[in-house]
Amino acid sequence: MHEVEKYIRSIPDFPEPGIIFRDVTTVMKDPNGLKIAIDSMIDKVKDLDFDVVVGLEARGFALGTPIAYALNKGFVLVRKKGKLPCETISEEYDLEYGTAEIEIHVDAIKPGQRVVITDDLIATGGTVKAAIDLVERLGGVVVGCVFLMELAGLKGREKLEGYRVDSVVAYE
Ligand code: PRP
Ligand code: HPA
Repeated sequence: MHEVEKYIRSIPDFPEPGIIFRDVTTVMKDPNGLKIAIDSMIDKVKDLDFDVVVGLEARGFALGTPIAYALNKGFVLVRKKGKLPCETISEEYDLEYGTAEIEIHVDAIKPGQRVVITDDLIATGGTVKAAIDLVERLGGVVVGCVFLMELAGLKGREKLEGYRVDSVVAYE
């Protein structure tokens, strides 16, 4: 068992019956949990050749920014629709529960920039696949995706064939 697992709270039947929600808030509120989580994610990507971290709203911001800071990279926000103030491109996608749309500023990534995408969790993979599509539409090169948690039973990795995918903790 990875040490970070003891900080992850699991809530049955949230937000819908049948879903076991893996809660990152209990990791982040604990100084040791936060440190292990961030350090473990940094370990997964520190040797990659990349320029910028892209974080996915909202929990991907909280985990992604310290990774970018520690590795001396910039940080780009991918936000839910309607939040970014300048010109954007957007992608719609399906979630484990419902659908959503995310956006990125058109000038956030320069053609050829090498990107690592961060989020707290991969479930179906719909969110991160939409983010990959946004980055690639701007000419960015996705060199890896790193998550604290992976719900392996939902087979999100199958949507990401050909991409490097790392997670710290995997649940079936
Ligand atoms: C959760 C999670 C990931 C996404 C994973 O975010 O933080 O971003 O769902 O699901 P997927 O792999 O099936 O796409 P959510 O959309 O709930 O947004 P939030 O972080 O703003 O709460
Ligand atoms: N936890 C957090 N976010 C999620 C989950 C989960 O179990 N499933 C889909 N998004």
